[in-house]
Amino acid sequence: MISQQTIQQIQSRIDIIDIVGGFVKLKKRGANYLGQCPFHNEKTPSFTVSPAKEIYKCFGCGRSGNSISFLMEHEKYSYTEALRWLANKYNVEIEETESSPEVKQLQQLSESLFIINGFAQKYFTHQLVNSEEGLDIAFSYLKERGFGEEIIKKFQLGYCLQQRDAFAKAAIAAQYNPDILQKTGLVVLRDDTLVDNYRGRIVFPIHNNTGKVIGFGARIIGKNDKAPKYINTPENELYVKSKILYGSYFARQAIDKSDECLLVEGYTDVISLHQAGIENVVASGGTSLTIDQLRLVKKYTNNLTIIYDGDSAGVKAAMRGLDMALEESLNVKLVLIPDKEDPDSYVNKVGATAFIQFIKNNKKDFILFQLEAELKDAGNDSTKKSEVVNKIAETISKINKAEDFTKQQDYIRQCSQILSIDEKGLHSLVNKFIRSRVLSEEKKNATDKNKYFDTEVIPEPEINDWSNESFSLLHQDDLQEQAIGRVLLEHGFKHWDSEKKVADYIFEQNIDDDLFENKKILFLINDYKDKFYSGLQPTIIHYTQSQDNDIVSLVISLTNFPYTESAGWLSESRSEGINPKIFDLEYEKFIGQILKNGEINSEIYQRNEDEHYKELTETVIEYLKIRKIRKLILQNQIDFELPHSEYEIGHLIKVHNYLKEEKNKIGNRRGIVMYPF
Ligand code: UTP
Ligand code: MN
Repeated sequence: MISQQTIQQIQSRIDIIDIVGGFVKLKKRGANYLGQCPFHNEKTPSFTVSPAKEIYKCFGCGRSGNSISFLMEHEKYSYTEALRWLANKYNVEIEETESSPEVKQLQQLSESLFIINGFAQKYFTHQLVNSEEGLDIAFSYLKERGFGEEIIKKFQLGYCLQQRDAFAKAAIAAQYNPDILQKTGLVVLRDDTLVDNYRGRIVFPIHNNTGKVIGFGARIIGKNDKAPKYINTPENELYVKSKILYGSYFARQAIDKSDECLLVEGYTDVISLHQAGIENVVASGGTSLTIDQLRLVKKYTNNLTIIYDGDSAGVKAAMRGLDMALEESLNVKLVLIPDKEDPDSYVNKVGATAFIQFIKNNKKDFILFQLEAELKDAGNDSTKKSEVVNKIAETISKINKAEDFTKQQDYIRQCSQILSIDEKGLHSLVNKFIRSRVLSEEKKNATDKNKYFDTEVIPEPEINDWSNESFSLLHQDDLQEQAIGRVLLEHGFKHWDSEKKVADYIFEQNIDDDLFENKKILFLINDYKDKFYSGLQPTIIHYTQSQDNDIVSLVISLTNFPYTESAGWLSESRSEGINPKIFDLEYEKFIGQILKNGEINSEIYQRNEDEHYKELTETVIEYLKIRKIRKLILQNQIDFELPHSEYEIGHLIKVHNYLKEEKNKIGNRRGIVMYPF
């Protein structure tokens, strides 16, 4: 267990921009940072990170959290692992109890897998460069193929001895759990004993984006028709093949810099190109590209250049991913390496400069390449040819982003030339595909609509004579409760006057606990109050760094971040006829946010709210007061229904009138249009 003190130390050093920015390309937008959400597929960035609040939120998919939850979600770390990673990053020494074999077993599975993989990588590397067998058989083979010491070290290559169980024994001696060991795929059970799975093979570790080993590919040395060339890690909690691009850890910066990602098939292609100084390269592992792999590329660049050998089955496999690539707005180019060479052998043959020149000169547009290949296949068969036309029209229709419009027109022109068909005809065929997709998406959206708003789905109102009204009021009140929490969090420590803080003012209003329907918000408010009056500073960061995930997500949903919630509250208020200028401002911001292609000018927004926070505070408090009065009025009305003496009725009417008057007073002050009771 990591001590509480260490956790606090880590938290005090966390910089969410630094952390999230390591995985997502972020651009500064006012006070916040904006990027493409790593958790869902999106075209315009809606993933927002607030350095001041130490939180992120995607207003596309709704995912939100703090630095630690980001690491847990994105890197599949456990809580402790995220802390360890942060401790390492910020040089915080971890205070904890020595972990026994029992504790090791209890640790999160993925954490254990990482640890074992790290251990195995070091072990195999050691065997490669220190054991006689490793040097004689493996190291010499790699050298012969042209891999230098430096690149072998960089990619952490290793060797697994031929002995039946050398690694298994070492791992057991190091007290790793046999079940988890098997999960890594490093060992297998044979006749009740654990034996090495990569015997006599060169081991290529596969790294995640933080450089930790998630799996391995193990290549047989030389040629052997009886055994598979590579043995790969089986799918497990860390190794999910569809999400891996080999070499991405080493290529990230170069891809970013060159704004291009080269995609090859094999491990050795990546390593050879790196050695030649071409570092913006990753490998697919020879299978067809998946949407997750494309998104990984998309994080760094829009330009993907596939470099495969001419007669590789990989080209066909890659083509299957083409439509997905277009939907992700990637520009896909293809280069075929001639003469049965692959990128590894070719770069070794011609050298880096000639290789780069060759790539430059032979880049083909992938869509046109596909069309030409299929047209050749179809030959003179007119049915096949019309299939080709349909298919290319569908492919082109996937380029449907407004900014890609010219690109789409270009393709229609070029493809109609290649096909020697009428450009207008192809155009209307493309439009047909677009129309039918839009229709089916609309249908899908209609059913998906509530997906992200599950928590806000409002129960059907009960049917009685005041139900509809009270139902709508209730819903609105929930938004107002949220508003109180929000004002406290955002402005609680600002000055109310020369003596008081905003929080003082709010707590002086004697707000009854039972006025709150939302118990979570009530808890937060009371917690804030306790802390506030005991001299602690319950800042937003204090709550967003909480270990209680419910509190973290509540607070994120309450704060002005990134303004969607408050806009919801606003539109409710608008329909109520409320029109103070702060709300207008907020409304304009919300609209502005949508209109500006998802780019939020949060600075102006924040500045305005900062100027109006007192007005905002008064408004939300008075809403609560109205709510209280409303409750009393309703109670009073229910009382009316009961049999009463004349005196009692007179009293009830007096009370009713008094309450109505109070309500209207507040209403007039705030410009609120009242419901007639
Ligand atoms: P290649 O056969 O092209 O191998 O497979 P390679 O990487 O170029 O290796 P060398 O240069 O012959 O040493 C391309 C990729 O396909 C996957 C591996 O990821 C490999 O790097 N593959 C291939 C397997 O997973 N299993 C296999 O048996 C073969
Ligand atoms: Mn090869």
